[in-house]
Amino acid sequence: MNIGIIGAGHIGGALTRRFSALGHKVFVANSRGPETLRDLAAETGATPVSIAEAARSGDLVIVTIPEKNIPNLPDDLFKGVPDTVVVVDTGNYYPQQRDGRIDPIENGMTESRWVSRQLGRPVVKAFNNIYVEHLLKSGQPPGTPGRIALPVAGDDKPAKATVLKLIDELGFDGVDAGGLDESWRQQPGTPVYGTDFDAEGVREALARASKERTPAWRADTSAKSAKRA
Ligand SMILES: NC(=O)c1ccc[n+]([C@@H]2O[C@H](COP(=O)([O-])OP(=O)(O)OC[C@H]3O[C@@H](n4cnc5c(N)ncnc54)[C@H](OP(=O)(O)O)[C@@H]3O)[C@@H](O)[C@H]2O)c1
Repeated sequence: MNIGIIGAGHIGGALTRRFSALGHKVFVANSRGPETLRDLAAETGATPVSIAEAARSGDLVIVTIPEKNIPNLPDDLFKGVPDTVVVVDTGNYYPQQRDGRIDPIENGMTESRWVSRQLGRPVVKAFNNIYVEHLLKSGQPPGTPGRIALPVAGDDKPAKATVLKLIDELGFDGVDAGGLDESWRQQPGTPVYGTDFDAEGVREALARASKERTPAWRADTSAKSAKRA
């Protein structure tokens, strides 16, 4: 596949390495421009591009930048990009450590629904709950006992199927985690977040998740505010 990746940090870099090694053609972008991605390109064979080109180069485009920077992406990023192009969001909202306050998320919108509205495109939420090192190194062949599984949420079934197939190629089981409005089940602070469960473990963890955003994952940490939620 042709895969565009917007963001070349921990996750964008890991996905560039893994997808390139699998034989996919990767077009990768960061905020500073393609000339700053020469080393990653030399290492992987990926093509460094602008973010506009990354959005237009893929059968699938992965957006993997800090949540607070999502609104900085150009409004017309996906203008003219066919609806068949799958957009993947790997993002997590870290209000206290990195992102500051994002009101719609604080008020209960799922992180990926918010990203989807910012981008003006449907998105599939994936790769958000696994540590980068594990994404890079812990893939195993299908059928391996204890194979790590990753939840995938989204409203478009064919798009989700595409992502589930890629996850299998990367060496993980994919678990359909429902529509985008169910994606709170895999957000930071939930039982599946930052864990390496197998498929059954992921399903159990998604089922016992609580929708309430705990104080550690809210912008306002006062007890009053947490209670109001
Ligand atoms: N790290 C993990 O283990 C992990 C795991 C799962 C999910 N996530 C989530 O995935 C997202 C990315 O995380 P990360 O750890 O990969 O972040 P990171 O290492 O900080 O890398 C961020 C990347 O985004 C690029 N970027 C920032 N703003 C941009 C913009 N406006 N346009 C284009 N590119 C931009 C940066 O480019 P420049 O360097 O040029 O600014 C950099 O390449 C976050 O939401 C994070 O919470 C992280």
